[in-house]
Amino acid sequence: MRSKTDPGATADLFADEALQQPPGREQIGEQSYVLRGYALPWVERLLPELRRVLAQSPFRQMVTPGGFTMSAALSSCGELGWTTDPTGYRYSAIDPNNQQPWPPMPEALRQLAVMAAADAGFEDFEPDACLINRYVPGAKMSLHQDKNERRYAAPVVSVSLGLPAIFLFGGHERSDTAQKVSLFHGDVVVWGGVDRLRFHGVMPIKPGTHPVMGPQRINLTFRTAG
Ligand code: SIN
Ligand code: FE2
Repeated sequence: MRSKTDPGATADLFADEALQQPPGREQIGEQSYVLRGYALPWVERLLPELRRVLAQSPFRQMVTPGGFTMSAALSSCGELGWTTDPTGYRYSAIDPNNQQPWPPMPEALRQLAVMAAADAGFEDFEPDACLINRYVPGAKMSLHQDKNERRYAAPVVSVSLGLPAIFLFGGHERSDTAQKVSLFHGDVVVWGGVDRLRFHGVMPIKPGTHPVMGPQRINLTFRTAG
């Protein structure tokens, strides 16, 4: 996925990677953790699976009920996929673009999410939905709560790939001050329990080209939705 490199952007990326934290578990909330570099050993297995998923259900830019086109492009795999259109946010078993079921969740993705959840204290995670977000430089995700799932007992597991991002981890009110957490290729964030409904978002991605993923950030979020 590598493309021609802009030397300025590369210098920036190295500056960011110099900030990358060593492997380990950082607590960012009572029941929230960043597992640094956790997904790195899985990347080679994940990428071909992701390519297969995206060949069947490609990235698309969705429109929110408020009429805004999201800057991140989305797809999904698993039994349920998260979608938005002018009538609302929802989980659907059918990809609205092709009227077919979403691609099944690849086993490697599911295993990674289940192991990360367990390492963060959430045993027996059974994800049925994996949302795939693609951010090109400038794309962002506004502060929101993940609350279209039927129950909130299961955590959210979020895998970052590609360009670094500043993840905003807020409180239970939109107006609560958000922590800024730098996320790098291979980092996994898990939040659940008392933190399950905390507001979160992603600041606009800085220009750059990641050596493995190219000029983009891909985020996978696993949830139990149904
Ligand atoms: C999300 O909240 O759906 C995405 C979070 C991220 O991209 O890190
Ligand atoms: Fe979210």
